[in-house]
Amino acid sequence: MADINEILKTLTLEEKILQMTQYLPDFIDGNDSGEITGTMYSFDINQEQFLNVGSVLGLGGAKTVRELQDFYLEKSRHKIPLLIMNDVIHGYRTIFPIPLAIGASFDDELAERIARVTAVESAISGIHVTFSPMVDLVNDARFGRVMESTGEDPLLNANMAKAFVRGYQGEKGQEFKDEYDIIACVKHFAGYGKVTAGRDYNYVEIPDYLLRQTYLPPYKAALDEGCRMVMTSFNALNGIPSSANSYIMNDILRKEWAFDGVVISDWNAVGELWQHGLTDNSADTAEKAINCNVDIEMMSDHYIKGYKQLIDEGRITEEQIDVCVLRILKLKEELGLFENPYRALSEEKEKELILCEEHRNLATESVEKTAVLLKNNDILPLNKNEKIAIVGPFADTHNIIGAWSCKGVNEESTSIYNAFKNKNIDFNCAKICDIEDECFDEQKLIETIKDVDKVIVAVGENQDDTGEGNSKGIIKLSKVQEDLVKKVHSMNKKVVLVLFNGRPLDLKNIIDCVDAVIVAWFTGTEGGSGLYNLIYGESNFSAKLPMCFPYDVAQCPVSYIDYITGRPKRDDSGSGRYTSGYIDMPNLPLFAFGEGLSYSKFVYDNIQISGDMEENQTITVSVDVSNVSDVDGVETVQMYISDKVFRVIRPMKELKGYKKVRINANDKKTVTFEINIDMLKYYDNDKKFEVEKGEFEVMVGTSSKEYLSVKFNLI
Ligand code: GLC
Repeated sequence: MADINEILKTLTLEEKILQMTQYLPDFIDGNDSGEITGTMYSFDINQEQFLNVGSVLGLGGAKTVRELQDFYLEKSRHKIPLLIMNDVIHGYRTIFPIPLAIGASFDDELAERIARVTAVESAISGIHVTFSPMVDLVNDARFGRVMESTGEDPLLNANMAKAFVRGYQGEKGQEFKDEYDIIACVKHFAGYGKVTAGRDYNYVEIPDYLLRQTYLPPYKAALDEGCRMVMTSFNALNGIPSSANSYIMNDILRKEWAFDGVVISDWNAVGELWQHGLTDNSADTAEKAINCNVDIEMMSDHYIKGYKQLIDEGRITEEQIDVCVLRILKLKEELGLFENPYRALSEEKEKELILCEEHRNLATESVEKTAVLLKNNDILPLNKNEKIAIVGPFADTHNIIGAWSCKGVNEESTSIYNAFKNKNIDFNCAKICDIEDECFDEQKLIETIKDVDKVIVAVGENQDDTGEGNSKGIIKLSKVQEDLVKKVHSMNKKVVLVLFNGRPLDLKNIIDCVDAVIVAWFTGTEGGSGLYNLIYGESNFSAKLPMCFPYDVAQCPVSYIDYITGRPKRDDSGSGRYTSGYIDMPNLPLFAFGEGLSYSKFVYDNIQISGDMEENQTITVSVDVSNVSDVDGVETVQMYISDKVFRVIRPMKELKGYKKVRINANDKKTVTFEINIDMLKYYDNDKKFEVEKGEFEVMVGTSSKEYLSVKFNLI
């Protein structure tokens, strides 16, 4: 065990500041081995200083990392190993469905298994830290980064956050004992998912009662699971950019939550305090971030440029610097880097494990458990003996792994065409148009579909139009794709729509032209394999929407977490003029949070509550779920609670539990949820987390809009 306090004493003040600084490896060894994920700047730093920074980001690969670490340990004066960090957000080289799709699984165990394989491939490739999970709660499909989130609900995001952390770090209390364990970094703290107008990097306004009730719990869940690192968000939150926001960084994170791990800024987020207009020099910039306990400045140079002045003027102390540096050294010590700077790095293991069959099989299973069936007019599953056609930009493309897929290679993915061809299905296949074409090839279309009755139309958005810096004002399919769907429909063909998307899409123009809708999301490496199994019924759908599909982008931001108002028009019954709603479109989204069909048919009945609840009591609610079909299936049973007496407005319902329940054909199961007082408590603007006695309604069902309900009183 290294003595980090002794190591600290060997460092000069400048070397301590450099431990608090992170750059791409390119600045250290001159190779372009780092992934650029932000605006590039030149830094007022000399080569000797670069050779003593504490960590690097954006790289992976056993050979590359070993060479960098060796070069660095030879050149740096202090010989403290580099921490190697990277964005491994849904797979390293074996790529899984995007995080929004993983949220759709409502399957915490699946999320953990995905994170585990991700950790293994990352660790053998030399990575020590992944900038994941991203748990920002999102309810605006215009925001490109909804792709990286697990959706609009705090409980789902919190459970997914915990699952990812376990998968990366190992069980809480046993972290890093396995050589494949890597450090998780929860991001982006805080409230980044609520950017105004869905515009990336925009300001965020969240009142304290809502911040604490809805937006903060997923970050807290990750930290409660042992997550060792937090990344600050770009956005201003309630007037102050996160990296200088003492309320969230000190009062909440360090004091209320007692987090003693490392905080790292996002890419140049410290530097952007200047762009935000909060500062106009390096010393002020560094002072604000260091006083907010931002331990590592990523890709900007204000700590190293401003620290001397701050120390000379007594604006920060060396003791403050020591606290930050010790948190960083503790991470390196926890990973055993002082004894073995290479940890699990292994070129041999890379050859054996990366993209191995086991990992590819999990990627296939993940597609089966994340694709959401939104509509099925008894057309699916297809019959293998019936010839079909597959058309559209995604009929035979490998550009399906997602916009931010670390070392994933599009060409290593299995397209729909690949999968169907390998299974000897008799089908015609043609692209007919690209996503952004003016029009489609009508002659080719007729030729491709004239001799079949059923057509898979594979459409979506360009994966590079999703993710960071890719907000959209229009969330419909491109016109040529909508025209293609309508044309196939006009030719009296049955249409199976398969969507490749990184955000909810506006489907209203085509929803009546199709007989089935599969939301595949960006699927990762085994998209075609998983979709083949689902389309032919070799596996059954079980996923649900983690984020609603708006009727129109005009509804954004929109979520099931909604409030009745003083003049409700929530049921779109067209009630009176002076009510809260639109006069030219429905109030409610086209598809709701928690919606998703199966080949099975689940019927809910006999909801029972065990009785009223006293303060320190737990009660139960149960419901019978019958599978009245001949197909075994897994139902995602959801429990929502609605408070009827409160001191600040409360949502009409909040998800308070969900269970994946396997129910075989023509069988029935009774599903029971416990309800405790903490599920009922809520925050107000005085930071009180309390609940009033009075009536509550419990809803248990298949989605946020289809359920049985029963009432109870808190007495
Ligand atoms: C990016 C992203 C952040 C990522 C970081 C490092 O700009 O905002 O999610 O982890 O920079 O790549």
